[in-house]
Amino acid sequence: MIKYILNDKLVDQNKAMIHVSDLALLRGYGIFDFFRLIGLKPLFLEDHLNRFYNSARTLRLECPLDRDTLRSMILEMIKSNKIHDSGVRIVLTGGESPNGYYIGEPTLIVLNEPIKPLPESHFTEGIRLVSHQYLRDIPDVKTLNYLMGIYHLPDIQAAGALDLLFHWNGKISELTRSNFFIVDQNDRIVTAGKGVLKGINRKHVLQLAREEFEVEERDIFMNELPAAREAFLTGTTKKVTPIVQIDDIVIGDGRPGPVTQRLQQMYDEYIEQYLKRY
Ligand SMILES: Cc1ncc(COP(=O)(O)O)c(C=O)c1O
Repeated sequence: MIKYILNDKLVDQNKAMIHVSDLALLRGYGIFDFFRLIGLKPLFLEDHLNRFYNSARTLRLECPLDRDTLRSMILEMIKSNKIHDSGVRIVLTGGESPNGYYIGEPTLIVLNEPIKPLPESHFTEGIRLVSHQYLRDIPDVKTLNYLMGIYHLPDIQAAGALDLLFHWNGKISELTRSNFFIVDQNDRIVTAGKGVLKGINRKHVLQLAREEFEVEERDIFMNELPAAREAFLTGTTKKVTPIVQIDDIVIGDGRPGPVTQRLQQMYDEYIEQYLKRY
């Protein structure tokens, strides 16, 4: 039987339940984080724990487990489940609310889910996006609110796209679940420096990019897209994915560009090295 964590216990998957008065269910109040396993090795676990506890602190939710206990229970869960190349989702909710609005005692749930690999063509040919005017609430926190992305799924699919690209007052922030980058006219790799969730993969890719390219963290505007040489995204399951079209704007020559391809290669090598050290 697959095990999940519920508060301070490892329980059978079908026993991991939250109360109907939980604030996550009634009001969408809660946070989470998500990392993947390569084989059974967790990727960037410490970064994810940092972000998880930061998100919790910002939303004034106290996790029932301290960091060391949570880490060791997660490792125990992974060892018990043995689901290779899966994902681990750490969720902290507002808990059972006394009146349907006030925060209760936060509920911690850790799930271990299979991940369906993305088609290889995503990485080799690139993907398309649909732009959408939207400003995420508390953007530096990984909240449970993905309403806009899920609501627009049929439109995204009808457009042959993979996801939405959020922008507000002409300024581009990120995708629903990934960070956004362009290679600008001056061959600089650019990504938004504020108003976004600081992706763990964003952090590692920026670090790699600085070894070989000029990098800038600044606002990116919608009207820069037609002249952008390349665009790509970073995220836990999507790694470094080239973006070849946004609405009817073809990026560069409509194929993954050399900078993106180089970063994909560097990222794969970096992960290989990371796993050897683990
Ligand atoms: C809004 C948002 N931006 C960016 C990301 C990318 O973050 P990471 O690289 O940690 O997966 C995510 C991840 O789900 C996200 O939800």
